[in-house]
Amino acid sequence: MKRILVTSALPYANGPIHLGHLAGAYLPADVYVRYQRMKKRDVLYICGTDEHGVPIAIAAEKQSITPQQLVDRYYADHLDTFTRFGMSFDNFSRTSRPLHHKTSQAFFQNLYNKNVLVERTVQQFYCDTCRRFLADRFVEGICPRCQQPGARGDQCEKCGSSLEQTELIKPYCKVCGHPPVLKDTRHLFFKLGDFQSRLETWLAEKKNWKENVLNYCRGWFKEGLGERAVTRDLKWGIPAPAAGYEDKMIYVWFEAPIGYISATKEWAERIGQPDKWKEYWMDSRTKLVHFIGKDNIVFHAIIWPAMIMAHGDLILPADIPANEFLNLQGEKLSTSRNYAVWLGEYLDKFPPDPLRYYLAAIAPESKDADFTWTEFQQRNNSELADILGNFINRTLTFAKRQFNGVPAAGELNDLDRAMIRVLEKAPVEIGDLFERYELRRGLTALMDVARFANKYFNDQQPWATLKTDRSRCATTINLCLHAVQTLAILMEPVLPFSAEKTWAMLGHTGSVHQQSWDEAGSLTLKPGHRLGQEQILFNKIEDKQIQPEIDRLAAASKNQPPTVAAAETPAEPAKISYDDFSRVQLRLALVLKAEKVEKADKLLRLEIQVGDEKRQIVAGIAKHYAPEQLIGKTIVVVANLQPAKIRGLESNGMLLAAEDETGQLAVLTPDRPVQCGAKVK
Ligand code: MF3
Ligand code: ZN
Repeated sequence: MKRILVTSALPYANGPIHLGHLAGAYLPADVYVRYQRMKKRDVLYICGTDEHGVPIAIAAEKQSITPQQLVDRYYADHLDTFTRFGMSFDNFSRTSRPLHHKTSQAFFQNLYNKNVLVERTVQQFYCDTCRRFLADRFVEGICPRCQQPGARGDQCEKCGSSLEQTELIKPYCKVCGHPPVLKDTRHLFFKLGDFQSRLETWLAEKKNWKENVLNYCRGWFKEGLGERAVTRDLKWGIPAPAAGYEDKMIYVWFEAPIGYISATKEWAERIGQPDKWKEYWMDSRTKLVHFIGKDNIVFHAIIWPAMIMAHGDLILPADIPANEFLNLQGEKLSTSRNYAVWLGEYLDKFPPDPLRYYLAAIAPESKDADFTWTEFQQRNNSELADILGNFINRTLTFAKRQFNGVPAAGELNDLDRAMIRVLEKAPVEIGDLFERYELRRGLTALMDVARFANKYFNDQQPWATLKTDRSRCATTINLCLHAVQTLAILMEPVLPFSAEKTWAMLGHTGSVHQQSWDEAGSLTLKPGHRLGQEQILFNKIEDKQIQPEIDRLAAASKNQPPTVAAAETPAEPAKISYDDFSRVQLRLALVLKAEKVEKADKLLRLEIQVGDEKRQIVAGIAKHYAPEQLIGKTIVVVANLQPAKIRGLESNGMLLAAEDETGQLAVLTPDRPVQCGAKVK
């Protein structure tokens, strides 16, 4: 391995960063990268905002701003909160930049030219009120699997099933609340299935990948990989570069991962070596690692690698350490219910390191983790403050006061030798764990060093030997100062701000980030070295600081998700112009024939006469009318409705009926004879 390219999933720029994001895709990656930098490896860390797609278009619409205004706001917000949290990206880019559009379109074209993108005509929901196709999450309804309302056109969040939008029960337009109609539309599809066997072979070799990732992929292979639509009928996104598709956009999940490449290119341009991105993406000696949350597995472990295989010139991911989810106070996090802890709000009240520490300590590596404010407080107080902070502060205070700096070590006893061995071993042991993305165990090993050092201080009793055996005392303090130095370096990936402070307190110039991980356990402090200014490392967190946070979440936990509300009470219909109304052709029709539709107890098939045209329509009124009650009646129909297939029967028009809240239904008829075919206005 010559170099490492690390990515964190590009966060959607439609809402602020919360703790769930951090625990899954960001903090573990940042720790890994910081560790690799101190190992002096060539490592590049890439991220940026994911700025296209339906949720962003919807959020902008709801706030009556343009999508660009929305993503500008959240790009700035993400960059700011990530920076304050200590995320050490080499580049934090965004997918609305021209370089990304260009890169994505070239990628798309490459696949199109290789005939792995093929055209298909499909039926898709269309909202007549909003006059647009309802891509993905623009349509919601009741989940056909779990029967819960609020399922989205691509997925039900309640049961996790991925859905075809046409399967939704009682679908409605997410924006206006109206039921959509089915219409034909053309899209380009990626022939993912063509890559199944190559993907299976490739993944079979990934013996040390996380089991959750491999299992998930096996499930997909079992179902068989079909074709995936890669264009969308949307106005916001990257225009699809294919003849006949000029008004369609590239599917956001097709272009977003390409953002990793664009962001690398942007970085290379910025450092004045525009071709350098190729070293990271085209050289098989690069180890490409994607940090993600588990909801992103299929995109990173199946679809993206298939895209890379189809493309041909790029390297495949070497590892995809996907994390499970973070719950809050025992409940599932939910941004729509504001049941979340927002990073920006956290940082307005608390420092970053205690959160980094606690999230790393409970990282959802192999199962979902639970964040509680009480445990956060307790871990801060009893581990960071009482063990790590206490050891560092008591050592530095003692050394300064009694020796005015670093004293020389004298003869060593067994305990001293044990301390030295612990310091020597620590970088190897913790490094091995970080190398394998085992944040939790790495952090435990780090705290074990601090615990050992604290106990060493206690057992050696330097305050007593100071009076009885000054050289013994000097040896103890010398080794304690070395332990502080080792800890400063080894804590840097998880606690970068505190590590930097500790480094300064040791009287060192430069930054702890530039130190060598492998040298962290060496005894390099020179006797007589002067120490720096003391600072408080970790403050205790009081009950009164966390109580408002607990109360806030308890209140939010009672919020109803807005999606359910929308399902039950569709939004007030928007006002339409006379022009809008006149697009609907209503006409009188004579019912010639009526009969029940087999195996459909709500449906009647009607043959009607509209002027001099005969038509067939299918209507859901069998529960209210016997067929013979309708024959010979004059009814009102929508004459210019797109034909639809209902139970295999073509329905060419729709009859008008009124239904009240009790379920009573009446078919509308004219109250005096008018010629059949007459216009209704
Ligand atoms: N925006 C997506 C999410 O938050 C992640 C995109 S990752 C990328 O789930 F690879 F597509 F960029
Ligand atoms: Zn609508």
